[in-house]
Parts: sequence; structure tokens; C-alpha cells
Amino acid sequence: MPSLAPHILSVPGSGIRRVFEIAMKLDDVAMLVVGEPDVPVARHIIDAARRAWAEDRTSYTPNGGIAPLRAALVAKLARENDVHVAEEQVWVTVGATQALHQAMGLLLGPGDEVLVPDPGYTTFTMNAHMLDAHAVPYALSAEHGFEPDVDALEPLVTDRTRAIIVNSPSNPLGTVFGEALLRRILDFARRHDLWVISDEVYEYFTYGTAHVSLAALDDDDRVFSVFSLSKTYAMTGVRVGYLVTPRGLSETMRTVQEAQISCVAEPDQWAALAAVTGDNQPVADAREHYRENLEAAREILRQRGLAFLDPAGAFYLWVDVSHASRGDVAQWAEDFLIAERVAIAPGSAFGRSGEGWIRISLAAPLDVLERGLRALPVPA
Ligand SMILES: Cc1ncc(COP(=O)(O)O)c(C=O)c1O
Repeated sequence: MPSLAPHILSVPGSGIRRVFEIAMKLDDVAMLVVGEPDVPVARHIIDAARRAWAEDRTSYTPNGGIAPLRAALVAKLARENDVHVAEEQVWVTVGATQALHQAMGLLLGPGDEVLVPDPGYTTFTMNAHMLDAHAVPYALSAEHGFEPDVDALEPLVTDRTRAIIVNSPSNPLGTVFGEALLRRILDFARRHDLWVISDEVYEYFTYGTAHVSLAALDDDDRVFSVFSLSKTYAMTGVRVGYLVTPRGLSETMRTVQEAQISCVAEPDQWAALAAVTGDNQPVADAREHYRENLEAAREILRQRGLAFLDPAGAFYLWVDVSHASRGDVAQWAEDFLIAERVAIAPGSAFGRSGEGWIRISLAAPLDVLERGLRALPVPA
């Protein structure tokens, strides 16, 4: 057999999937490992999808998406994100996953570098490898409130650095970056003439803190924004997200979308339109469910004396298990799963800074979450 491209062989596997796959083979597992909303998709979204199929709306669409969906996203961005863009800047994608790959593919050539959060969402690093580029981690450390330390970013910049990825609300940390910090990151990017990719897929899930979109602060066209319907509307399997680009890229975007996906499945786009324009109460209800779970989880962790980062957004808890994991939290997570039937994500799956930590999903029925939290080993 001929060989695969060497950079493809370097794409790191996901440490979350590993736990997930073992868990799928066991019975009675408390599943707290993946970022999967545990609420149902709203009726009006299902109805719209069903209608699209029934009416045979199953053709190729424009590469950027059907016109009413793009128009609805433009209106949503202005209303909810204070981001004012033209339709040609909004590209409907196969989830945020393809939006990220598309944005990184536009900006990174072989050997280029992109700054990625550590701990951070695994796909940022995987995509850099896919493109034969380098992911350079920047630490989100406890000493710095789990936020980017902008001064510490400076020495990471080389003449190959092309972009920085920012993720707020953060997966896996649940931190939400305020406007002042986002402005400092933008100033940093401007100083070094870097692109910024802002992943905002958890935009609707914040608890007592407002979400600020980086693109709302961008005045010189350097921010690509990545959004998704997956988490917001509990439609992870429908695979719809969108990429919002700086101005002047529509011809290039049309070409690269054509090469990569042509377009998103048409029935999924009609479902997405119903989601974006429909009743937002299900989103508010989901947020309330995660917030209630968070409150209950906080209480249990405090009672049990476990250290954790109190999240302001997303639906994850970042919990310190370094007293038990002995320097190999990935192995510990597997052992813990087999012994206790509780599936959680090892922090090391999100980067080096995650060693000794685990990520627990709050998107689960409360009794399942409680069982998982009560099984965690406490410090001596
Ligand atoms: C930070 C972040 N970005 C992007 C994604 C991908 O989402 P999608 O389902 O829209 O591809 C996820 C999914 O977990 C995520 O956590």
C-alpha cells in the first residue's frame, strides 16, 4: 500500500473519544464525557426538517447557504452579537467543525503556526496537523485565572505565526472572557498582524456574565467568527454551523466551500432557519437546566472538598483530581470508568495544562451527574 501524507499521520487522536468508546461497551455508565446536550430538539425545528424532506427540498444550494438562512443569521448577529455584517460574509457550514477547518485552511500554509488555548478544544490542534501547520499552545493556567495572559503570548510569536484561536465561553474550562481582555487580545493580534479565529459555539450558555463577541470589537477586519447551532439548539447530529468572515473574501469563500463541501444538506438548512428564527424559550430552558445542574454540582464538590473551577459559561466543570491521578490522568480516567462506571474526559486530552484535571459535562440528567460526582475520589 502506498503511504499516507506524513502530516496526516501526525494528527493526534482524541483522548475523549477513547473514554467514550470504552464507555459504549459497558452497561450502566454515567455518561459525563462528551459535549452533548441532554435536552430534546424543539418541535418547530423537527417540523421544519420534516417539511423540507416532504416537499423534496433536497437540492444543491448556494455554497454559502439558502438566502433566507443567511439573512436570518445576519439579523441574529446584529441583534445578539452586535456584529454587523453583509450576507456575503456569512457562510453556512457543516457544524462549527467545518467552519474551523475552513478558517484555518484559509490562513495556514505548511509550516505556519497558530496559537491555540491549552487546555483547549481538541480540534484546534488536530486541524493544524491536518494542514501541515503547527499548533503552538498558550497556557490558560490557574495562576492567571484560567484566562489568556496576554504578556505571555508575546514570546510565542515567530515569523511563522499567522493566527490566534480564542474560545469563549471556553471548552473545557467554562471561562467567559470580558470585553477588556478581548480588546487586549485584539491589540496583541494587531501588533503582530495576526488573524483571530473566535470560537463562540457556547455563546448562549453563560451564567450571570454577558457573552461578548470578538468581531463586535474588530475594526480592521481580522476576526473570523465560528458559531454553531449544535449546542444552542441541541442539534449536534444535524451538523449546522456558520463562519463569519472579514469583508472582501466572498469570492475566495465561494471557491473553498465548493471544493470542501459544496453546500450543507438543504433539509438541514431549513431546520436551521426554523431554529434561528423560532421561539427561543427552549434555549432559555436548556440554559436554566445547565445552571441548576451547575448549582447542584458546586454544592456536592464543595461538600466533598474537591477543588474545581467555577464556570461562568458553557456546560462543563473543570475538576482537580491530581490527588488521585498520579501524573497520568488519561489512564486514571479509563481506570475510573471501569471501576466506577462513570465516564469523564481526562484534562490531558485538551493539552498539557490539563494534566491532573478532568472535564465533567453538566449536560446530563441531575441524578446521573450526582452519581458521577459522588464517585470521584476525595483528597486525603
Ligand atoms: C469549542 C467548540 N468548538 C466547536 C465545536 C464543534 O461543534 P459542531 O458540532 O458545531 O461541529 C465544539 C464541540 O464540542 C466545541 O466544543
